Amino acid sequence: MPKKIPKHIAIIMDGNGRWAQQNKLSRPKGHKKGVETASKMTELCIKHNIQSLTLFAFGQENWQRPSKEVRYLFRLFLLSLKRQVNWLNDNNIKLTIIGDRSNLPDGLRKAIIEAENLTQFNTQLHLNIACNYSGQWDINQAINQWVQSGQADHWQNYLSLSSQVNPDLFIRTSGVYRLSNFMLWEMAYTELYFTPIMWPDFSEIEFQLALDFFNQTERRFGKTSLQVRQQEANI
Ligand code: IPE
Ligand code: IPE
Ligand code: MG
Repeated sequence: MPKKIPKHIAIIMDGNGRWAQQNKLSRPKGHKKGVETASKMTELCIKHNIQSLTLFAFGQENWQRPSKEVRYLFRLFLLSLKRQVNWLNDNNIKLTIIGDRSNLPDGLRKAIIEAENLTQFNTQLHLNIACNYSGQWDINQAINQWVQSGQADHWQNYLSLSSQVNPDLFIRTSGVYRLSNFMLWEMAYTELYFTPIMWPDFSEIEFQLALDFFNQTERRFGKTSLQVRQQEANI
């Protein structure tokens, strides 16, 4: 049986703060290390020929953190974007940022548009970063756009990631078992993988464990196990 590889992986990169605390470092140091893990994961997705990777970087609920941390996170995002945009482009990666841009800092908004424009025709990997995103926000904005368009198509076509397949594998690190308002509509049938590892420590081996988990799941989509096996054997 050939190995099942997910087409789209969605990750809640959680545990930067606790990792920093455990290592007697400041929270910003944890976030910085978290960015390194995100870059590593991008490389691994290319290695495994995965089509889409969606990373949750900042949720709308995260505005409730101390303003100093929020400002730091946006600064780090801008810096990382500027540093890595050429690498992304050289590696044929298409970058899309999903979320409400209206209240992001101007400099960040500008850098996002530039990076998206530069990488828009790339085809190796679709890297989506969720920034000022929430699943409920996305459903809301999609329905609003749909109503305004007056078109007879489906409202789902206006979701931020409507042009990509739904995630087939979800990973959340740091031993927290919730969706925290991530992709609510798109994850209706996603396989859910949780690990106690903090995001800065999430390594190639850990990634492989998540892929192994996915490989051994039987995706039934409501059918019986027998039906699925017959389908796979083409009976
Ligand atoms: C995830 O790490 C990164 C963001 C939410 C930006 P956390 O900052 O949530 O880390 P913990 O949960 O406090 O350990
Ligand atoms: C939210 O993570 C999603 C991101 C990683 C950006 P949190 O760590 O803030 O989530 P909660 O609040 O613990 O659910
Ligand atoms: Mg957290």
